Amino acid sequence: TRRITVRDITAAKDRGEKWPMLTAYDAMTASVFDEAGIPVMLVGDSAGNCHLGYESTVPVTLDEMTMLSAAVVRGTNRALIVGDLPFGSYQEGPVQALRSATRLVKEAGVGAVKLEGGERSHRQIELLVESGIPVMAHIGLTPQSVNAMGYRVQGRGEEAAQQLLRDAKAVQDAGAFAVVLELVPAELAAEVTRVLHIPTVGIGAGAETDAQVLVWTDMLGLTGGKMPRFVKQYANLRSVMGDAAKAFAEDVVGGTFPQEEHSVH
Ligand code: KIV
Ligand code: NA
Repeated sequence: TRRITVRDITAAKDRGEKWPMLTAYDAMTASVFDEAGIPVMLVGDSAGNCHLGYESTVPVTLDEMTMLSAAVVRGTNRALIVGDLPFGSYQEGPVQALRSATRLVKEAGVGAVKLEGGERSHRQIELLVESGIPVMAHIGLTPQSVNAMGYRVQGRGEEAAQQLLRDAKAVQDAGAFAVVLELVPAELAAEVTRVLHIPTVGIGAGAETDAQVLVWTDMLGLTGGKMPRFVKQYANLRSVMGDAAKAFAEDVVGGTFPQEEHSVH
């Protein structure tokens, strides 16, 4: 079996097929999703919050993204792996973006990279695509800009909606193969999806986008605390793991683990 490519992904839009994307930050989790048939995995800088214990995605470094991306690539055979460019690794300009993306491609083996920003990132996208690196864009709520924009719904109101449409067209014109729409009104995401010929990947963007992405720790109920409205929890790993850890602790304290069957002589 060969890996899924960006061309397979763009062909899916022409056939009107929807597809799922999940984040992954380690080889073992990624292998589970790969065996489950998830076609695209994002090594998101949401690793900052969900894997590395930071308060936001802002502190995540390119070294960290390279290490996590390499692990996900090693854990998978089939999925297209997209590596997130972290904050500070592409904002200086196209040359810095190319240097950073090249590391993710050469050292980690990702098949594509993702970066945030519409019109403001179009020069970076152009140079990466010209250089042979497929780019997934990311517009709407862009968490790396939390200090400037907060975590709020984007594209509400006529002016903001027009800006989102301009951003979507800018990344398509620059050569992006797909674009994430994060936390935008469903009607606007539907319009962007109709207007663009590249696939849209929604998160909190309604039902009309070509693809849907969720952060895996949210989707499986491992993340603690209150979930945003757009998350659907398909399992409750946090209680499964917590209960197992408590049962193990009780067994050890009570002397009921290990048993004879766990012992060697
Ligand atoms: O880092 C991430 O997980 C993301 C997705 C939410 C699109 O960028
Ligand atoms: Na991200």
